Formats: sequence, structure tokens, C-alpha cells
Amino acid sequence: MSILSVQNVNKSFGGLKALDNVNLEVEEQTVHAIIGPNGAGKSTLLNCFVGRLTPDTGSIVFNGASLLGIMPHEINQIGVARVFQTPEIFADLTLLENVMIPALATRDGSFSLQLWSRMDCQPDIREEAEHVLRDVGLIEQKDVIADSLSRGDKRRLELAMCIVQHPKLLLLDEPTAGMSRADTNDTVALLRRIGEERRITKIVIEHDMHVVFSLAHKISVMSQGTVIAQGEPNEIKGNPKVQEAYLGGAH
Ligand SMILES: Nc1ncnc2c1ncn2[C@@H]1O[C@H](COP(=O)(O)OP(=O)(O)OP(=O)(O)O)[C@@H](O)[C@H]1O
Ligand SMILES: [Mg+2]
Repeated sequence: MSILSVQNVNKSFGGLKALDNVNLEVEEQTVHAIIGPNGAGKSTLLNCFVGRLTPDTGSIVFNGASLLGIMPHEINQIGVARVFQTPEIFADLTLLENVMIPALATRDGSFSLQLWSRMDCQPDIREEAEHVLRDVGLIEQKDVIADSLSRGDKRRLELAMCIVQHPKLLLLDEPTAGMSRADTNDTVALLRRIGEERRITKIVIEHDMHVVFSLAHKISVMSQGTVIAQGEPNEIKGNPKVQEAYLGGAH
């Protein structure tokens, strides 16, 4: 069954057609990779899923509900979480605090400073945050200030901040960008484990083909705003249209 259904989505920036009649079905509890050369429209599409951008035309339906015209925090509330292309964390706070904030926001509907002042008397939230930090391998550093983490660990922290919200759908824009091979392999293993244990559907935008082919059940290939191919990894590997898009693109 599809958890996300994208139909005939178009989005232009001035004269540039960033999304040109995009159609996409994401099956529940799978990892769906979106690949394609720079400027293909991958991040634009993801921004439409989270309400940061509104398509000019078309429909986006998540779990039976239209995502169009809904505010980003409401989309988040119904089960869509996103890891950004550059980590978005609270740099001056500890890891534990970083994870407790989205946990509180999820439980109470929104986050306010009042919640923050009550954070010390939230043992259940603290426990859950610690559990998630343990899951991503950061429990030893729970009282460390987030800004001092390595890039790879910041990504892990961001992932913890997402999964503590119990999303049904997790969107990851280049989760291993800028990572060493070792950090990349750790992240792939972590994503796989988290997907299986928590039954989270994932959409991953990724340039690293090693990551794509290790994680994805399905791959959609975008080029110049359109999905030019869609299928299982071994179908995509040998597709001449895909090779052409990469050779003709910026890569
Ligand atoms: N807010 C914006 N205003 C104007 N043009 C934009 C905007 N966002 C994206 N674009 C343009 O839309 C096209 C698609 O961009 P997008 O960022 O979606 O590509 P991408 O596939 O994510 O590329 P990359 O792999 O480099 O991240 C590009 O030509 C880009 O310059
Ligand atoms: Mg992008």
C-alpha cells in the first residue's frame, strides 16, 4: 500500500520548471531513494512534501490526507519528519535537551518556552530521549553541548530528534553528504536498523550510489524536474535513460 502518493505535481520558479509533472508512489515500510543530477528537482520535491513549498498544480496525499495547504508543523504532527541537507540542531544545548524538545513538542502539539521551563520535571520524556540517544549510539555524550559534535555525530543527533517524534515517514536529504566512508557505513547501518525496528517508511535523496544501492527497495530517478525512471535497484542499474541523465547532467 502507498503511504505517499504524488500525482501530476508541477512547480515553477519564474520561468524555470523545477518540477514537471512528477508522479511518485511510496510504499509503506520501504526505503524509497530519489536520485538524479544536481538541479534535477529532488530537494524541491521534498520541500513540497513538508509544506515549505506549495506545488502550482497536482496532489500530494500522505496516509489518506492531502498535504497541500497544511502548515509544516501540522505535516510534522501527522507523522512526517525530515532530516535536512545541513543539520538543524540546537547548537548551544546538550544532546539530551536537543532530543527532549521535539519529544515534548510531539506530545503536547507545539513547543513553547513554558514547556522548556518544565523540562526538568518530565521524567518520561527524559527517559524516552535517553532511549533514542542510546539507539543512535550517542548516550555517552548526552550531557555534551551539541555544537562540539563531529559532523557525523550531528547527523546522528538530528536523526534521534526525528525518531523521537515517532514519524511514519522520514525524509532524508543527502544523509551522508560530507561524511567519511566509515561514518557513511555507520549511518547506512543505523538507518537500516531504525527502519526495521521502528517500521518507518523512508525517502532518501542521495548522490552516493553505494548508499542508494545498500538501502533502497525502490528508486526514482529525476532529471530536469521529471521522474525519468522508477523501479527496483537492479532495474535502475542497467537503465540507459538513467546513465544518459547522469552523463548529460552536472555529474
Ligand atoms: N527557491 C528557489 N528559487 C528559484 N529557483 C530554485 C529555488 N529552489 C530551487 N530552485 C531551482 O530549481 C531547480 C531544482 O533545484 P533542487 O534544489 O530541487 O535540485 P536538487 O535535485 O535537489 O539538486 P542537488 O542535487 O544539487 O541538491 C534548480 O535549477 C534550482 O536552481
Ligand atoms: Mg538538493
